[in-house]
Amino acid sequence: MSDVLNDYRIIRKLGVGSFADTFLAESIRSNGLYFIKILKKERAFPQENSSKDITEMKFLKAAEHPFVIQYIEDFPYPIRYLEQHCIVLEYADGQDLRKKLASLKNQVTEDVLLTWVTLICLALAYVHAKGLLHRNINPDNILIVGEQQIAKLGGFGTISNIYSSDKTVGTWQYSAPERFTQDYQDEADIWSLGVVLNESHIKIL
Ligand SMILES: Nc1ncnc2c1ncn2[C@@H]1O[C@H](COP(=O)(O)OP(=O)(O)OP(=O)(O)O)[C@@H](O)[C@H]1O
Ligand SMILES: [Mg+2]
Repeated sequence: MSDVLNDYRIIRKLGVGSFADTFLAESIRSNGLYFIKILKKERAFPQENSSKDITEMKFLKAAEHPFVIQYIEDFPYPIRYLEQHCIVLEYADGQDLRKKLASLKNQVTEDVLLTWVTLICLALAYVHAKGLLHRNINPDNILIVGEQQIAKLGGFGTISNIYSSDKTVGTWQYSAPERFTQDYQDEADIWSLGVVLNESHIKIL
């Protein structure tokens, strides 16, 4: 892969997922740091004749919320015969909640943890008010941003319209019981956030 994607210089690869590769990149114009996700074109755009007419990119592009990770831009990135698409997001320089809790040098206090979970509640309320489910609330998808260490919700790869019945998505350790047996609604996301709070609280004690 070229070291330059449109106006961004790739600094390093951050991860290889089953659906996307992720990179830390620097804007050639402003020198600011950004998070770039490269995914197959069909993951970026709603598929015709599919009951799921929302995707991570469609949601993020329209989202305006202080505690939802900020969308910057998107552009096609075809490589050979593969139609791929890049999504550029603000870079969460403070890592994700799982890494934050695992790092000994960043002692997270109870007050800070409660503030982070409160901010994620507000982000989740915003998602639910749009009639959508996140479906993968876990500590990897809670991102810490900036000097003020603001928690923001990310990981919208499995976002869906409400009344979901898909049992295969998400992270089972954080999944509400009804997700394994029946259709589920926004309460299932709230259950997952409760598990995150409980797990994180045990870790900081
Ligand atoms: N904006 C960001 N800035 C910095 N790191 C990020 C950002 N977004 C995600 N990450 C890191 O990259 C990891 C993977 O990203 P992301 O969660 O978006 O994709 P995924 O886990 O493959 O899919 P899903 O959307 O289903 O969670 C996150 O767990 C987090 O550690
Ligand atoms: Mg994730």
